[in-house]
Amino acid sequence: MSAQPRRVEHLQTDKGNVPVYTTAVVEQPWSSYSREDHTIWAALFERQQKVLVGRACREFIDNQKQFHMSPQSIPKFDDLNRVLKKATGWELIGVEGLLPELTFFEHLANRRFPVTWWIRKPEQIDYISEPDLFHDLFGHVPLLLNPVFADYMQAYGRGGVKAHAIGADALVNLTRLYWYTVEFGLIKQDDGLRIYGSGIVSSKGESIHCLESPAPNRIGFDLQRIMRTRYRIDTYQKTYFVIDSFEQLMNATQPDFTAIYAELTQQESIPAGNVLQNDFVYNRGSGEGWTNVGDV
Ligand code: PHE
Ligand code: CO
Repeated sequence: MSAQPRRVEHLQTDKGNVPVYTTAVVEQPWSSYSREDHTIWAALFERQQKVLVGRACREFIDNQKQFHMSPQSIPKFDDLNRVLKKATGWELIGVEGLLPELTFFEHLANRRFPVTWWIRKPEQIDYISEPDLFHDLFGHVPLLLNPVFADYMQAYGRGGVKAHAIGADALVNLTRLYWYTVEFGLIKQDDGLRIYGSGIVSSKGESIHCLESPAPNRIGFDLQRIMRTRYRIDTYQKTYFVIDSFEQLMNATQPDFTAIYAELTQQESIPAGNVLQNDFVYNRGSGEGWTNVGDV
């Protein structure tokens, strides 16, 4: 058995006691997963399979089938990579956990998606504050099979390398884009509003909340609006942004962001729960559809 990768402990910094990870790429220690690890995978997998019917976007559901993931056991990265590499050229790599921004961007820019090798414990089934294997793998991998989304992720990585060189403000703006699309995005499909964000699809509570709760705002995709919008990492989102298609996302993010970053330094950020005059708000239930807040 190969040596088990290990999380580096904690480090006292100005942000408090934070977990520190190695940035190394690690081999998935598949044969050392315990029975409990496979059982928690099974529980999470089966629960989300049910919750996501009629909630996740069609691409997520269709693509997931192509990987033949099952509740039987934690998937092997090598098996998933055979499907993924052939389809879109992406490759999963094992990591210890969150990576420094630049390292993360460089992986994406080279079509490598970092997946945390370890899975949460049973007491964390409903909530875990950091990404684990279930989030990274179940949540992110299916859409990497979609050609447009696969290109978007790479473009984001390249954009990240660039923003990193520009400075901290640019990085804040770009990170919000990732948050409100890749992690918490909604998409309007022919049969209704659906989820594509990985942070949502890997959470039972948020999968229901984001679509069914009257509380959050659901606002039409607007690049600069998103880049100005703050977010919370410790509660359900107060606002979700809705795209019409992955092509829309790709097209809107094609322009060089350098000028946009410069312009945004002149503007206030927007609190997570606010609705603005020009927002298009998506209403569910009777009279489902868009309203322009400026019109009411
Ligand atoms: N167009 C962006 C830039 O110039 C790069 C990017 C593409 C960022 C796609 C995010 C998503 O920085
Ligand atoms: Co994620």
